[in-house]
Parts: sequence; C-alpha cells; structure tokens
Amino acid sequence: MDDKITMIEDLPGVGPATAEKLRDAGFTTIEAIAVASPADLALNADVGESTASKIIIAARSAADVGGFETGDMVLERRKLVGKITTGCEAFDELLGKKGVETQAITEFYGEFGCGKTQIVHQLAVNVQLGAEHGGLDGSVIMIDTENTFRPERIAQMVAGTSKRTGEEYDPEEFLKNIHVARAYNSNHQILLAESASQLAQELKESGKPVRLLIVDSLTAHFRAEYVGRGTLADRQQKLNKHMHELLRFGDLHNAAIVVTNQVMSKPDAFFGDPTKPIGGHIVGHTATFRLYLRKSKGEKRIARLVDSPCLPEGEAVFSVTMEGLAE
Ligand code: GTP
Ligand code: MG
Repeated sequence: MDDKITMIEDLPGVGPATAEKLRDAGFTTIEAIAVASPADLALNADVGESTASKIIIAARSAADVGGFETGDMVLERRKLVGKITTGCEAFDELLGKKGVETQAITEFYGEFGCGKTQIVHQLAVNVQLGAEHGGLDGSVIMIDTENTFRPERIAQMVAGTSKRTGEEYDPEEFLKNIHVARAYNSNHQILLAESASQLAQELKESGKPVRLLIVDSLTAHFRAEYVGRGTLADRQQKLNKHMHELLRFGDLHNAAIVVTNQVMSKPDAFFGDPTKPIGGHIVGHTATFRLYLRKSKGEKRIARLVDSPCLPEGEAVFSVTMEGLAE
C-alpha cells in the first residue's frame, strides 16, 4: 500500500464530511472502497457518481487490490502460507500435515454437538503459539453468531496446551489476543467481517498480527432469516459476497479463515439430505477445505476431508476432552 494513504481521509476528494458519510455507510477502509462500485458508493455515501468513481480509482491504486497477478507473484504469496496445528496429529495429517492453512477458508460442518465450536476455540489458542509448537504467533478475530464463545473454555485449553508443550502459558495472555464480536444478524455479521480488516490493520505491527479469522457459525443467521423459496437467491448472493470478503481478508493478512456450518437435519427439511451442509454450492465452492464432522463413541469425533484442491480424501479420529482437542 502507498505509504501516505492509510486512512480514508487521505484519499483525494474525501474531506472530513465525506469520510464520515463513507464510514457510516460501512466503507471504513481503503480496501472496502476499492472494491465498491461507483453506484453503490454514490448511493450510500451521498456523493455524486463521478466523485465516487474518482475516490474508487484512488482507493484502488492505494490499496493494491487490483486485478491480475502473475504466476510467480502468486507463488511468492503462497510461500508465505502458514499452518495452525489442531493439537492432534491425525487431524493435522488429514489437513495436509501441519493443520489449518492461511490464505484459505476451512469449513467445519456437521450436526449439533459434533465439536465445531470446540475446534475453533482450540485454534484460537493454538494460533498464538510459536512456530515450534505449531502456531503462528498471531492473534485472532472471532465473529460469534450464536453466543457460544466461552473464555473459561479457552482457559482450560490453555492449561491443556501447557501440558502438551511443556511450557507455562498464562490464560489471561491468550484471552487478550482473542478479539470477539457478537453478530446479531446476517447484515451485522457481514459488517463485522468488513471491519475486521481495520482491526487487523491496527494490529499488523503489534507483534501479534491477526493470523486467524473465525466465523462461528457462518450460516446460522442466513438460514434463520431467509426462509421460503423466494428468498434463496438473495441469501446466496449475500453469502457469496460475504465468503469472498473473508477470502480477501485471508489473502490480505495472510490469515487462516475458519468457518463453521450446520447440516440440514431439521425435521422440517424432511427431504433434505441430513449430511448436507447449509449454503449449497456457494459455500462449497468458496471454501478451500471442507471437513465433515460426526460423533463417534463418547468423546471421539470423526473428521472427514470432503473437498480439497490438493489433498486426498480421508478421515481422522480425534477427541474433545476437558483439556481440548486430543488424539
Ligand atoms: P452446534 O454449534 O450446536 O451446531 O454444535 P457444535 O458442533 O459447535 O458443538 P460443540 O463444539 O459445542 O461441541 C459440544 C460437545 O463438545 C459437547 O457435546 C461435549 O462433548 C464437548 N464439550 C464441550 N465443552 C466441553 C468441556 O468443557 N469439556 C469436555 N470434556 N467436553 C466438552
Ligand atoms: Mg457451535
């Protein structure tokens, strides 16, 4: 990004009043403006369309979100891909040896109680570890749509991690690096994903840059709000935009994106396949790794890699224990 342009006020044509309007309309970062359409910006921020175009062009050149990359640039970026351990060897192996990847969306789906929320809690701990213990020395942004984030659970998992690694970790320190926002509806969820970039920007030089963005659950609000056949197209369009926003975050910040998803097992979805994830092909095609989780005996869970560009399909068994994920 251009050295000088970091705030939206720095864009030519954006004075304090316009900046305020842009922010109110959700265009809080240079990146958000760069990918907006002139009509959208004009309508939402109350500026003329030609002004909007100029602002967008300036934002594009400042944000470097533009168009094409050559293969060697993609390769360079891919070299920076990091991995976050799940804390369970078999599970890591299933994910291609070292766990969940950055610059990609990993989706965990399955019925209630199969361990989705437990996995994201564990990853929120593990991403903070140093490389020697399978982490990325990073912090976490968590968008919590079901109010299931539990700091007490994090503390238990940190205790488990201390045991696993032989280090003495302080749960307080871990909690400080988890930035949780509750999403009250799907629009709010989308907005939070957009403002996540701003927070990540602020934390970039902090020594604990954001390396993991969690959305738990990705689809629950969408599913609850868009009921009935006529609403499907609208829902899918919103979900599609949201997924791409997340993917962009992953590329921009070299962060792992982890989302959870339910399956269609409600009694009213009588004809729906009870092992199919919500969100259809939109979620399926945008997620880079999809894992289907199911319950086994007691604490045991089975993860199956369903769809991946470069890994063989397979299964891994893990346990959800008091101290977190384990073999
Ligand atoms: P939904 O969000 O309802 O779709 O389910 P989920 O897939 O997110 O399930 P979640 O991750 O919340 O898993 C719940 C399961 O994790 C419980 O059935 C327990 O088996 C296990 N679990 C949750 N908390 C604890 C805990 O503190 N100790 C232990 N040992 N297990 C726990
Ligand atoms: Mg859950």
